[in-house]
Amino acid sequence: MSGEIEEVAPPEVRHYSERSEVPWDIQNYWSQRHRIFSKYEEGIWLTDDAWFGVTPEPVANKIAEHLAASVPKEKVVLVDAFAGAGGNTIAFAKSGRWKRVYAIEKNPAVLACAKHNAKIYGAEANITWFEGDCFELLRTQLKDLGPYSVVFASPPWGGPGYRSDEIFNLQTMEPYPLNFLYKEYSLFSRHIILFLPRTSDLRQLAKLADTKENVNVRHYCMEGASKALCAYYGNFSMEKINQQ
Ligand SMILES: C[S@@+](CC[C@H](N)C(=O)[O-])C[C@H]1O[C@@H](n2cnc3c(N)ncnc32)[C@H](O)[C@@H]1O
Repeated sequence: MSGEIEEVAPPEVRHYSERSEVPWDIQNYWSQRHRIFSKYEEGIWLTDDAWFGVTPEPVANKIAEHLAASVPKEKVVLVDAFAGAGGNTIAFAKSGRWKRVYAIEKNPAVLACAKHNAKIYGAEANITWFEGDCFELLRTQLKDLGPYSVVFASPPWGGPGYRSDEIFNLQTMEPYPLNFLYKEYSLFSRHIILFLPRTSDLRQLAKLADTKENVNVRHYCMEGASKALCAYYGNFSMEKINQQ
């Protein structure tokens, strides 16, 4: 008998092993499950909604690599403001670059997935989890960490409808428009990375930057197609990313 206490999954949590169990609107995602989580078969947990937002592992790893290379050394904490089921959080923790990864998620069932999935990847040791609203936590409990931190945020994009827009309007993004995200995170840190739809309106991204602090935009691709972009606000060594 093992000495470990078995985790109890909240009722919304699933691990689908057979296609016949999978709801129709998730089947497309499920067929890519091993690309989303290479360790899926080891018992990855997701809620039905979390499938739509999770960052596929190769993209999460690439972003983690880029942040590790480009963020100034004195920034030792990474805050993942919207941890979801853990796609990005796990990659950041595995990179070994951060003294601590703070992962915030407001949905308790989704947070349970992230914690469980991080264990599967052996990545949980340097993650601190928070259940709650990231904006409130950054203004209160975490506020003193600001000078040592970068914020990575992969906000909800308002559902799969974003795909049909030729240019995605970031100011009507729901429930958190771009200006709101940027304003809130700027109060906490001067290094902000936003993970956004590939068709995001670049003029809206540029408008937030000033002459001292540029914005750099980087697309993240799989099989020759952009999956999403990251907008880097602040003083990042982008040349180190470009060398990779
Ligand atoms: C796009 S998903 C993040 C996916 C994540 N990067 C991953 O790879 O699994 C956005 C998540 O933000 C959570 N969320 C929404 N508003 C939040 C808030 N104010 N504070 C913290 N989490 C929030 C949602 O519950 C959802 O799980």
